[in-house]
Amino acid sequence: MTIPILLLLGTLAWGFRKLFIVPSNLAHIPRVSILSLLWSYISKEPESERIQRLFLPLANESGHPIILVWTFGLWIIHVLDFKIGETALRDRRWVRQLPPQDLLIWRLVGRSNLAFTIGETWRKHSKAVTTAFQGPPPIESIVRSSKELFTVLGEGGTFKWNDLTLRVTLDILGDAILGHQFKAVLQPHSPFVNGYHDTMESFGQLIREKEKKKGPDVISRMLECEDLTFDDVLDNVSVLFVAGHDTAAGALSSLIYYLAKYPTYQNQARDEAKKVIQNSDTLDQEMLTKMPFGLACVQETMRMNNSSNFTLPREADTPMMLGKYHIPPKTMMCFNISGIHHLENTWRDHNTYNPTRFLSPGSGDDKSSFPIAPFGLGLRQCPARHFAMWELRGILAMLLVNYRWRLVEGSIHSEVVQNGFSFGTNLNLPRDLDIVFEKL
Ligand code: HEM
Repeated sequence: MTIPILLLLGTLAWGFRKLFIVPSNLAHIPRVSILSLLWSYISKEPESERIQRLFLPLANESGHPIILVWTFGLWIIHVLDFKIGETALRDRRWVRQLPPQDLLIWRLVGRSNLAFTIGETWRKHSKAVTTAFQGPPPIESIVRSSKELFTVLGEGGTFKWNDLTLRVTLDILGDAILGHQFKAVLQPHSPFVNGYHDTMESFGQLIREKEKKKGPDVISRMLECEDLTFDDVLDNVSVLFVAGHDTAAGALSSLIYYLAKYPTYQNQARDEAKKVIQNSDTLDQEMLTKMPFGLACVQETMRMNNSSNFTLPREADTPMMLGKYHIPPKTMMCFNISGIHHLENTWRDHNTYNPTRFLSPGSGDDKSSFPIAPFGLGLRQCPARHFAMWELRGILAMLLVNYRWRLVEGSIHSEVVQNGFSFGTNLNLPRDLDIVFEKL
């Protein structure tokens, strides 16, 4: 054999080893079969199904839900244990990893924002964004957008609900974050809505206008923060839209889906909402706090089909422990939210939608006693979690007192929810969700 051929074979063997063979310092951790994973990626299996089919059986069986997952040449530890994950996410030595430098996402959201920075720069953004979200919940926007939604639903009929949720959540984000009404529900093809889908450049113009005329929105509050430059604010607005649009729309799709599938729970939630709202055609925060069953429906939805399957990966510079496992430095770790929400040891009948499980003692608005974490945990927990929860609870209440709904005959979702393929975005977004609405 000639030297070039030997060199080629050597390089191929080295490449194969690097790509497919588990590093010896991680070999002690239970791992998902590479072949099964390869097939899952090639067949475009949605992330949530991959977790149910491949991750959970291994985690349930090992009794110690820390597992190793091959992700196109990267070995990532997935934590499916709430307590171990919570401790790790609160430990500052686990540092959030940033996406590779050459991805398109940087062009979209810029480099100076809350989601894609670490250390001191992140702390500056986090302080400003968290403060900006501390205002009162955007109930007025929710009511306004719900009413616009009702003009589209009219007397009822069959609607592609996953499309409508994208429009209604865009309107609420626009109103609450920018103080700008996109009217995506009423005018789905307006220049701004079309423009938003192509590029987010128009944000700069809106923020310039905001500088002159501030309002009760998140951006006005951010503009008041002396630490942030105009570009910081612009990048944060883009990131809030990127992080907050699909996630909220996916959750709203799933919520309406489960209540369509389980009419008994829908009726129970409606009875509760009617008792509180009575003849009023509007809502306030206090009314929503008097609807614990509605809240339980939202939580059970997030447990069953959370918009976000897992957090972005973290890495530590020093050796770490995860439960009983030694983890070498520079190993990637992520908190597997969907896995944690379905672990057999934690959840009885984990695949059954049952909101009443959230009504036991310790319920109410403080859910700390339940091992769910739809918004992640620790330092990098979602800064808009309260905003998103009010949004879901508010739209649900408005819909309940105005409409009844069900799945369309022969729905692809009649057995289990069907999410779109989401590799790379890690999101659970129900696809082709046709819902029949009937005006009350
Ligand atoms: C149901 C809706 C939502 C879900 C399930 C959700 C989930 C999450 C999760 C799990 C994280 C943590 C990621 C990690 O630790 O790596 C996160 C972070 C984040 N979320 Fe949300 N989110 C939702 C809605 C929103 C909304 C409406 C906004 C904006 C208006 C938003 C903005 C963000 C931002 C900026 C971060 C990054 C925080 C940081 O890196 O410090 N999210 N979200």
